[in-house]
Amino acid sequence: MQSFSNKPAQSIYSPRGCTLLHVEELTPQEKLFRFVLDDGSALGHQPGQFVQLSIAGLTEAPISIAGSPTRGPQFELAVRNVGTLTGALHQLQVGAKVGIRGPFGRPFDLAALQGKHLVLIAGGCGLAPLRSLIQYCEDRPQEFASVQIIYGARTSHCLLFKEELKAWQNSPHLSCCYTVDQAVPDCDHDTPYDGEQGLITDLFEHLFERCIFTAENSCAVIVGPPAMYRPVIEELRRYGFTAPRQIMLSLERKMRCGIGKCGHCTIEHLYCCTDGPVFWLEEVETLRGAL
Ligand SMILES: Cc1cc2nc3c(=O)[nH]c(=O)nc-3n(C[C@H](O)[C@H](O)[C@H](O)COP(=O)(O)OP(=O)(O)OC[C@H]3O[C@@H](n4cnc5c(N)ncnc54)[C@H](O)[C@@H]3O)c2cc1C
Ligand code: FES
Repeated sequence: MQSFSNKPAQSIYSPRGCTLLHVEELTPQEKLFRFVLDDGSALGHQPGQFVQLSIAGLTEAPISIAGSPTRGPQFELAVRNVGTLTGALHQLQVGAKVGIRGPFGRPFDLAALQGKHLVLIAGGCGLAPLRSLIQYCEDRPQEFASVQIIYGARTSHCLLFKEELKAWQNSPHLSCCYTVDQAVPDCDHDTPYDGEQGLITDLFEHLFERCIFTAENSCAVIVGPPAMYRPVIEELRRYGFTAPRQIMLSLERKMRCGIGKCGHCTIEHLYCCTDGPVFWLEEVETLRGAL
């Protein structure tokens, strides 16, 4: 049976061995997995990067790192069960071994965000990669003028990180508001959903009109499903986010190698795995099929 080495990886194609330390159910489809590298080293990632995760005998999948490097050497991945690899991952028990290549990809541009009012916008599963930046902001609040989180999910059952959303609402360093398209009847074990209902773009009017934030000295970061980008960008522009390098976004494409070799992830002349997944809006806005 194939196994993973716990020696430092020799090649960028060789996975490093990791051990599963903790599993938490986030929703019926998504779980949060905490891992540690078997060689004792830290992953060495930056917020916004991803890893290629493999299970012996199966394929690989790109998964965003859902936690901040400021939280220590263990790292977390929030994974939706959609197919072969992710289905097998959801069956693993604590102590199981997996392989990791990476971290890969262009991270959020932390230098460009320094001193700015941040508007961090996530839709659905997009909260997973954005959580790495949110945790970073929580741990280094002095680096940013303010941090506003805006999150939208399809239904109240699909909300990720429910406890953390509440904690971020009560944090002295962050502001957070979230909405669901549809509040569904609660299961016995759920607390009733008493939050906002409506589209994520409905929250903008509310926040801007109450002057919770303005476009001046601000930078917006968007991570979400493809259908969310255009309407959110339109809203941001309506409220003055029109300067260059004021909107950053993270895009998802089907990937194989993760390192700019196979060409599976191209967006015209760009490789999503190495030129991205994080881009400034003006780098991709006019590219066919990018948004
Ligand atoms: C940069 C990046 C970061 C990602 N981060 C996360 C994350 O944090 N959490 C998470 O749950 N998922 C994430 N994904 C999506 C994840 O990679 C796919 O869901 C995964 O590859 C599916 O593998 P599988 O073997 O379980 O599914 P398969 O059995 O291969 O396929 C099942 C279904 O998923 C679709 N699919 C396969 N690969 C992808 C892909 N790369 N993107 C979209 N759809 C795909 C297939 O078309 C098929 O419909 C990310 C993808 C990218 C490119
Ligand atoms: S995934 Fe192979 S080039 Fe990007």
